[in-house]
Amino acid sequence: MSTFPFKIEASQGQARTGVLKTPRGDIPTPIFMPVGTAATVKALTLDMVKRANAKIILGNTYHLMLRPTAERISRLGGLHNFMGWDGPILTDSGGFQVMSLSKISKVKEDAVTFQSHIDGSKHVLSPERSIEIQADLLGSDIVMQLDECVSYPADEKRAQQALQLSARWGVRSKSAFGARDGQALFGIQQGSTFEHLRRESTERLLDIGFDGYAIGGLAVGEGHKAMCDTLDFCAPILPWERPRYLMGVGKPIDLLEGVARGVDMFDCVLPTRSGRHGQVWTWDGPLNMKNARFAEDDAPLDATSDCPASRDYSKAYLHHLVKSEEILGQMLLSWHNIAFFQALMIRIRAAITTGTFDILRADLLSRWLTKDG
Ligand code: GUN
Repeated sequence: MSTFPFKIEASQGQARTGVLKTPRGDIPTPIFMPVGTAATVKALTLDMVKRANAKIILGNTYHLMLRPTAERISRLGGLHNFMGWDGPILTDSGGFQVMSLSKISKVKEDAVTFQSHIDGSKHVLSPERSIEIQADLLGSDIVMQLDECVSYPADEKRAQQALQLSARWGVRSKSAFGARDGQALFGIQQGSTFEHLRRESTERLLDIGFDGYAIGGLAVGEGHKAMCDTLDFCAPILPWERPRYLMGVGKPIDLLEGVARGVDMFDCVLPTRSGRHGQVWTWDGPLNMKNARFAEDDAPLDATSDCPASRDYSKAYLHHLVKSEEILGQMLLSWHNIAFFQALMIRIRAAITTGTFDILRADLLSRWLTKDG
């Protein structure tokens, strides 16, 4: 199996900064990956995504296998060619989206069967099929194993079952993936909020051996504190020398606290989804641009940003666009949010490099903790 080189350049406590090298480009870590579920980072062109400093984007097996289908994307040259993104792409394996989006789903040892949320058609997703879709048909750079994620709260027996099934699917995913040049396979730790289950899951993953290790099953309703308490024990037990990816997380405060606990990679729909609904994230916390207090505020969201959406438009104008439900409002707010999340990660990386992460963390927490940031 090819392993992408991962070099940790500086660390402070559990927080680390480094570079994950992929054939399609270097990924500085800690990194936030914008979500491009259906082969688009919603409301943004790829020029805008690049201008926002994103280095890697995420795609979803579940959505793409249903529409336009993985086979069609393959015939059109793979996901990078289809959507016009030449940087690295990580794809999620599909199981999580099946459970959260499809109308009816059934998890069995062999595979998960489900009905499409689009047209009700029936589909089967096995670990082998998920690898085929991600690695062969889409041509993803970082491929995730198929796993089963339980919602919160889960009783211990249920969480144990899901982690054992995920581990068996991990074995099958790895053998389906085989040895490939230029693509990496990540395993996914499960176990809900139970420490001994997270340990057991990690042991199973380490026996299999992956290029990177994801933490699944968090941000599923347990709340910020329980997530942090779980990360306290579940992140440091993953190998120090391989990238660690916290799936589906999160708000800026979650990114900060995830990094403090040793996480290197994050993804979330939050910046684009909240941008489409009028919410922006700033160094002073979240703002709702629908609020009348912005109606005559002629200052930009962030005069120091190099993203045009943050720098070149007044809050009054953005407020007007959002109130008028103009498409441009959704575009500019999504653009600002993606650029803000990247700017946050740039500051986090610089702070770890200079040994000032604790100061940055305390400063941002004091601004955000009172404001639901
Ligand atoms: N996205 C957010 N959480 C999860 C998870 O537990 N598993 C997978 N595959 N994707 C996720």
